[in-house]
Amino acid sequence: MELHERIEDYKTDSPRVSRFSEERFLLFLEDITAVFDGFKALDIEALGIGHNELRVIIGPNGAGKTTLCDVVSGKTRPATGRVYFEGRDITGMDETEIALMGIGRKFQTPAVFDSLTTYQNMELALPGRRRLWSNLYCKETKEERDRILGILERVGLLEVRDLEARYLSHGQRQWLAISTLILSDPKLLLVDEPAAGLTDSETALTAELLLELRGDHTIIVIEHDMDFVRRLDSFVTMLNEGKIMAEGTLSELQENEEVIEAYLGR
Ligand SMILES: Nc1ncnc2c1ncn2[C@@H]1O[C@H](COP(=O)(O)OP(=O)(O)OP(=O)(O)O)[C@@H](O)[C@H]1O
Ligand SMILES: [Mg+2]
Repeated sequence: MELHERIEDYKTDSPRVSRFSEERFLLFLEDITAVFDGFKALDIEALGIGHNELRVIIGPNGAGKTTLCDVVSGKTRPATGRVYFEGRDITGMDETEIALMGIGRKFQTPAVFDSLTTYQNMELALPGRRRLWSNLYCKETKEERDRILGILERVGLLEVRDLEARYLSHGQRQWLAISTLILSDPKLLLVDEPAAGLTDSETALTAELLLELRGDHTIIVIEHDMDFVRRLDSFVTMLNEGKIMAEGTLSELQENEEVIEAYLGR
């Protein structure tokens, strides 16, 4: 479905109406609140993410963006509400179970092992290997090797495959982190601030990479960099003080007085 069709669909028929529709939403959040020491960091009535959609989440510091990922991935237990994934209630399931169901995550600070090479970082991310360090020394199959090399080629890291990750640029580390995610082939990717600290050309490449992934994967991207968000040309949800303040295309949000006041105009 084209972006404008999806937006029309979303607007005319609110997410809540379709909450049990597996056809439309891979992920659905209903009446979610997350509370830390009495402070409500997240307060979402209804949020639906469609199959193979790329959704961008924006909002000021402390708006609850990372907390939203924490709730979906099982790191934080919501105080109230339900999270549905593929039509199944996953609220309260632990992080490992949720990851195994097909929700992968790239954290704000990418988890890359410095003393391992690019290739070894990928090997470690092969499904089923993460917890067994000894597995690093057991030979991967030819299929696995081809897959790793294929992904590294796609993200432009083939030349540095035998370089220890400590020598990679900040951009290369981000791509490696995203690559390890792709390798585990999640149905839903949660990507927290992939463009933070990147140069303009690195930012452009990261956007291209995510656009390439859209289609085979459902992706939620959190980002502050509006040039990056514009490149993604996707449906945007803006959070403010834990609540959804506005949704639409970036151009629509840029004309919304409330959004400008709270975030974009600063
Ligand atoms: N584990 C926690 N314990 C206590 N407070 C927390 C915790 N996690 C988040 N918070 C608080 O919840 C609010 C939302 O934080 P969150 O990290 O989700 O914001 P964010 O939108 O990701 O911000 P940023 O753009 O700075 O990354 C903040 O006030 C934060 O201090
Ligand atoms: Mg954050």
